[in-house]
Amino acid sequence: MAFVTEDNITELAVGRWGTAHSPRTAELLGALVRHLHEFAREVNLTEDEWAAAVDWLTRTGQTCDEKRQEFILASDVLGLSMLVVQLNNRFDERATPATVLGPFHIDGSPPAESGHDMSDGLPGTPLFVTGTVTDVEGKAVPGAVLDVWQADADGVYEAQIPDVDEARLRAKYQARDDGSYCVRTIAPLGYTIPMDGPVGELIGQTDISEYRPAHVHFLLDEPGYAKLVTHLFPEGTEYLDSDVVFGVRDTLVVPFVRHEPGPSPDGGVMDRPFLVAAYDFVLQPES
Ligand SMILES: [Fe+2]
Repeated sequence: MAFVTEDNITELAVGRWGTAHSPRTAELLGALVRHLHEFAREVNLTEDEWAAAVDWLTRTGQTCDEKRQEFILASDVLGLSMLVVQLNNRFDERATPATVLGPFHIDGSPPAESGHDMSDGLPGTPLFVTGTVTDVEGKAVPGAVLDVWQADADGVYEAQIPDVDEARLRAKYQARDDGSYCVRTIAPLGYTIPMDGPVGELIGQTDISEYRPAHVHFLLDEPGYAKLVTHLFPEGTEYLDSDVVFGVRDTLVVPFVRHEPGPSPDGGVMDRPFLVAAYDFVLQPES
C-alpha cells in the first residue's frame, strides 16, 4: 500500500473517488479532486485561507431558504452559471439564445391569457412585450407557454419581499394558435444583486459593479424543443456591458419604444405613455 506524500495524494484521492458506482460520477469527482488540488498547489493555499473558505461556504448555505438561493448567486457572479448555459445550449444561430435562470424564478406562476396585465396596478411605466413563438424554420408554436418574471420599478423581485400572498410580476402566458403573444407589465429597473450576504461580502472586496441591467425573464419549455431560459434587455439601459452575472447576449437587447397615449398592442387604449418591446422567440428543436 502507498502511504500519503505531497506528491502522490492527488493520485490516491482521484483513485479512491474513481470507485464511484456511476462512471459519470467517477469522472466528475475525479476531475473535481484534480482541479481542487491543482488550485491549492497553484496558490499555495494557507490553512487560514482554507478555514475562511469553509466559513464562507457554510454561511452561503445558511443564507439559503425557500426563496433565497445564495449558492446560485455565487455561481452566477463567478461566471460559472453562464458558462454552463453556453456549454449546454449551443443553438442554431436562428434560435433565441439562452442565458442564466438567476436566483429569483418561482415555480408555479399562474396561467394568463395574452394581454393580461401581470403588474396588477403596481406603479411603473406600462410595458407591452409582443411577438411570436416559432421554430427555427419560422413555423408557429401554437399555444406555447411563456413563463415570465421580473423585478418591479424599484428593482425588487417577489422572492425578496416577505409574506407576499399572490404572484407579483410573474405569470405563465399562453401564446395564441398562431404563436403570437402579448405580455402586459411595467418597465423593470436594473438592480443590484443582494449585497447583504456572503456573495456581496466578496464583491465588496473588488471593483466589480454589483448591478444587473434592466430585463424581463422568460422561460419556454415546449415539447419537442430545447428548454429556453432567457431574458430581454432594453436597448440603451445602464450596465449592459458590465452585467454582474454575465447574462447579456447582443441579440437579446431590444428597443423598448415609447408610445404616446392611444391604441395599445393588447387591443385596448392607453391613457398614458407606454413602452412596446417587439421580440419573436425562436425555439431550437430538441436534439
Ligand atoms: Fe433578473
